[in-house]
Amino acid sequence: MDPLLNIAVQAARQAGSIILRSMSRLDSLQVHTKRRNDFVTEVDFKAEQAIIDTIHKAHPDHAILAEESGEQAGSDSTTKWIIDPLDGTTNFIHGFPTFAVSIGIANKGRLTHGVIYDPLHEELYTAVRGDGAHLNDRRIRVSARPGLKNALIGTGFPFRDTDDFEAYLGMFRAVMLRTAGVRRAGAAALDLAWTAAGRLDGFFELNLKPWDIAAGALIMEEAGGLASEIRGHNGWPIAGGNIVAGNLKVVAELVKTLAPHLPAAIAKR
Ligand code: IPD
Ligand code: CA
Ligand code: CA
Repeated sequence: MDPLLNIAVQAARQAGSIILRSMSRLDSLQVHTKRRNDFVTEVDFKAEQAIIDTIHKAHPDHAILAEESGEQAGSDSTTKWIIDPLDGTTNFIHGFPTFAVSIGIANKGRLTHGVIYDPLHEELYTAVRGDGAHLNDRRIRVSARPGLKNALIGTGFPFRDTDDFEAYLGMFRAVMLRTAGVRRAGAAALDLAWTAAGRLDGFFELNLKPWDIAAGALIMEEAGGLASEIRGHNGWPIAGGNIVAGNLKVVAELVKTLAPHLPAAIAKR
């Protein structure tokens, strides 16, 4: 296995076992509220630390961007690990069985490796740039759906006070009216992994963070699809956090369908 992928997988599996072990004591879990509807538990911190320790044992010089502990510059700043130790914390707190560990690696800003691990279902999604995307040992591809008709689309609902709910409802309505249905699973990394595996035909969400997207965007690309900025502009969706994903035709139709309903601040950016 590719050496960096090997470390990312080891780290994701360690975090996964920390998460699974703590499922038997969800009632006594320490939960903190970062801001309204944004939670973090002791498990997020422990899982993140285990991931960082594993990385630093092999590469003490690499840079880190992790959801709970932020940025750590490395003496070799060309390689950066982008980590969400537990994507789907709200689900996890409720015992709702949809959450994952997400680890992306970028070299000089270009994603090279992605790992998303769903420990409950023992599903490991991996990608190395140029080498395809895999679910466990099986190669995965995005769906061949020719457009939005009959498509199953994933999304994330806005949940922060600052989010633009009204605009989102217009986006949601437009997609609902053109597709077979819309799903909100509660873990953006898994939405991307499932889109890469063809379980969803497409995905859209506003205001995501780099650690929600990094691994999933590369896995999407290596599965023959695209994770794009929501207006279809060239460039990486990681920066703005507003994303559409799917095969090229689904992405093109999603971009067109969503455009008239985007929040004004995003539309004119
Ligand atoms: C959240 C999940 C959710 C998405 C939120 C994210 P977290 O991540 O990915 O699906 O809608 O925007 O913040 O906080 O559980 O790591
Ligand atoms: Ca997340
Ligand atoms: Ca998280």
